[in-house]
Amino acid sequence: KPQGEARGRPPVVTVMGHVDHGKTSLLDYIRRAKVAAGEAGGITQHIGAYHVDTDSGTLVFLDTPGHEAFTAMRARGAQVTDLVILVVAADDGIKPQTMEAIDHAKAAGVPIVVAVNKCDLPEAEPEKVKQELSQHDLIPEDWGGETVYVNVSAKNGDNIDNLLEMVGLQSEMLELQAVAEGPAQGIVIESKLDRGRGPVATILVREGLLQQGDVLLAGPEYGRVRALVNEYGENVESAGPSMPVEVLGLSGVPEAGDDAQVVTEERKAREISEMRHQRAKEQQIAANKR
Ligand code: GTP
Ligand code: NA
Ligand code: MG
Repeated sequence: KPQGEARGRPPVVTVMGHVDHGKTSLLDYIRRAKVAAGEAGGITQHIGAYHVDTDSGTLVFLDTPGHEAFTAMRARGAQVTDLVILVVAADDGIKPQTMEAIDHAKAAGVPIVVAVNKCDLPEAEPEKVKQELSQHDLIPEDWGGETVYVNVSAKNGDNIDNLLEMVGLQSEMLELQAVAEGPAQGIVIESKLDRGRGPVATILVREGLLQQGDVLLAGPEYGRVRALVNEYGENVESAGPSMPVEVLGLSGVPEAGDDAQVVTEERKAREISEMRHQRAKEQQIAANKR
């Protein structure tokens, strides 16, 4: 179990919204603006989670492509988000996935900050977006409601600093805390089998400190952490609360949504791993019989 006192931790911000409304563009812009030029090499590669240090403190972002990882996490009730940035394209307005995102945020009970995107386009109608969203309880502050709207352009960066500031302020009010020492626990947010590196799992640490050399149990897989790699491709020795980090050294590929925890004894990790594999096998056999 993690030990020690709970301290402030960065918010985990999930960027949601309809297809092509600009989620990835927004994240790319933020990342590009905050990453030193020398580190820019890795920017085009897909990274689903990363942290940035802003004037409003450290923020951790998750991109939610329509991809299965997020759906799987939701299906398992894995709740990793502290705040949702709802991206709505000002030239397109609210669409089915906008509604899904609102429903998700409401179900999770997390605050929404609306980024009205593509405001650089001549056909942008940000006021119309406000009107439409107001019909779904997202009443803008300037209309007497409580929802923060920021008109942005992920294309040219307009107002994105303002958006980050608003996200920082909203997060502060949540007074997020976690214990930052002791054996880590977290959640698998992405995983893959890498040709060169073997099983790779991106873990979002929830509590404790994940360190190189730890024995990690992730879903049914386990292993001694051979290396930890941050989202900028740098090797790091450890990762604390809210931080996403790639873990190398697992025996197999866990699934997005699986719990991850450091186990002090390797033997115990192996036992639990075997038990979970056995159970999965039995469930598979039972499913085949049906
Ligand atoms: P999915 O992941 O497929 O759901 O899309 P997304 O929400 O991540 O959108 P993405 O960032 O891929 O952007 C979709 C298209 O909109 C791309 O062609 C972007 O270049 C364009 N786009 C994104 N943001 C802006 C913006 O602020 N202004 C303009 N003009 N175009 C934008
Ligand atoms: Na897209
Ligand atoms: Mg995208």
